[in-house]
Amino acid sequence: MTSPTLAGIEKLARNAGAILHTGYNKNHQIDYKGAIDLVTEVDRQSEEYLIQAILKEFPDHYILAEESGIVDGNDEHIWYLDPLDGTVNYAHHIPIFCVSIAYAHKRTMKFAAVYDPMRDEMFTAERDRGAWLNGEGLQISGTSELERSLLVTGFPYDMWDTPNDNLAEFGRFTKLTQGVRRLGSAALDLCYVGTGRFDGYWERSLKAWDAAAGGLVAEEAGAKVTNLDGGPSYISSPQSIIAAPPILHEKMMAVINKV
Ligand code: IPD
Ligand code: CA
Ligand code: CA
Repeated sequence: MTSPTLAGIEKLARNAGAILHTGYNKNHQIDYKGAIDLVTEVDRQSEEYLIQAILKEFPDHYILAEESGIVDGNDEHIWYLDPLDGTVNYAHHIPIFCVSIAYAHKRTMKFAAVYDPMRDEMFTAERDRGAWLNGEGLQISGTSELERSLLVTGFPYDMWDTPNDNLAEFGRFTKLTQGVRRLGSAALDLCYVGTGRFDGYWERSLKAWDAAAGGLVAEEAGAKVTNLDGGPSYISSPQSIIAAPPILHEKMMAVINKV
């Protein structure tokens, strides 16, 4: 029985990315999963391709996929699939989105691939071996001061109704840093921390498939990635995440704890 490889996962991400690229800028069939949470036919096409391709090679593996939910199997092997991260951008013809795939063996995230087909940027990571952008090793930024940092965040789909809407944190960091961006793709936000484009990232209420692959990329590039209580799990519920160089992570946590 063969095991998953980083090269195999990269290939899946590239093929799914081609589906997103082909569908980009077309008129989409949009369905609403919530008031502001939408899905297009291309999310579903990308996910269908990924699930079929994984099951063809690994028929007994467990898959957690955004649009289909759980494909039951042996949970020593778990796949986390976000077939299109940045759906709202995609539906509005904004070219900031990606496909995000992570594979965990016996509960340890092992491989990750996040592919941005518009820029042909392939972010990959392997636990304890490193993180790469198109094959070049990644390293986080050396920024340790909030006033020198550029941050990124996102907001939950239930933000119309929840007091936990991240706006107070957003406002506070906006007055302490060079700025806070909101790109609309959690997986790319995390990979951009891995490249050093952003110095830090935080968000609440993501799902496992949003954070699994990008989290490994950021970690392997040197970021400290935790939940907002400082604990190591950032994919299980109640989900929250912060990723930054260790010194900046500490400073960001202090701000968040005060808000
Ligand atoms: C969303 C994006 C966004 C984040 C949301 C996610 P989707 O994923 O990653 O940046 O703020 O919380 O749900 O719906 O585009 O796959
Ligand atoms: Ca997502
Ligand atoms: Ca998605």
